[in-house]
Amino acid sequence: MDTIFTIFIVLALGLYGECKWQNDEQFHHYQNSRRSTANHMPLYQDKTTTIPDPPDHNKLIPMARYVLHNTDWASIATISVLPAIKGFPFSNVKSIVDGSLANSTGIPYFYMSPMDFTARDLAKNSRATVMVSLEETNYCEKKGIDPEDPRCTRLILSGKMRKVRDNTTEYTFAKAALFERHPAFANFPPDHNWFVAKLKIAQIAMIDWFGGAKYLSVRDYLAYNYTGLEMLQHAQSQAPVTHMT
Ligand SMILES: *[C@@H]1O[C@H](CO)[C@@H](O)[C@H](O)[C@H]1NC(C)=O
Ligand SMILES: *[C@@H]1O[C@H](CO)[C@@H](O)[C@H](O)[C@H]1NC(C)=O
Ligand SMILES: *[C@@H]1O[C@H](CO)[C@@H](O)[C@H](O)[C@H]1NC(C)=O
Repeated sequence: MDTIFTIFIVLALGLYGECKWQNDEQFHHYQNSRRSTANHMPLYQDKTTTIPDPPDHNKLIPMARYVLHNTDWASIATISVLPAIKGFPFSNVKSIVDGSLANSTGIPYFYMSPMDFTARDLAKNSRATVMVSLEETNYCEKKGIDPEDPRCTRLILSGKMRKVRDNTTEYTFAKAALFERHPAFANFPPDHNWFVAKLKIAQIAMIDWFGGAKYLSVRDYLAYNYTGLEMLQHAQSQAPVTHMT
């Protein structure tokens, strides 16, 4: 453990130079890192709170969009650059959003530091697989189904990770959405060069019932107008008098 930790620190101190997935524009430090959290509510998925059940399992795209919109974190697998396991798959946890509480896009957005395992892997190879599961809500537990039961729907998105270019409409939207859902980001160490990233989806695999994996059209998935307001209503029920920004 100590060795791995030391290696990670050594890597983390290294320069973020060879970044193939970096945007043309330089990433800028956030000037105003000490933001107030006064207008934000804590919104980690509360497993004791019930949100409306997922759609019919035959409605593949609504189901896929429901699962992503209603989960707050993902496992992300990358190809490791850690010397002892170079080229091995490596999995990590990332807090995610797919848009604001009121506006789902189907695209997973991330708030990342180049010091993290995942960003270091992505600097070498931007390919990643992102997995979210209804196990993150209280649905599977409520139904008495195991996390690996095919009815405990999991969505597995693969593609290439991209930085979202600073100072674009998408950046402003995604960063606000990330901070809305994860207010703790406002208190993260300001000197970690945080940036916003997203998955450019190449394949959508989903297990949402018996009978094997389903593969969904990326185009149809992204075009689908998801109007579910579960997360917004959940947030409002958690903090009915909190001012929404
Ligand atoms: C939702 O987000 C999309 C993508 O950023 C944007 O084009 C659209 O205007 C937004 N809609 C609302 C109602 O905020
Ligand atoms: C952001 O974009 C606007 C409009 O293009 C520009 O005026 C401004 O200087 C940019 N800000 C930064 C920090 O790049
Ligand atoms: C999505 O559906 C809502 C509600 O039906 C509608 O108001 C909105 O205009 C739709 N958006 C798009 C982009 O079709």
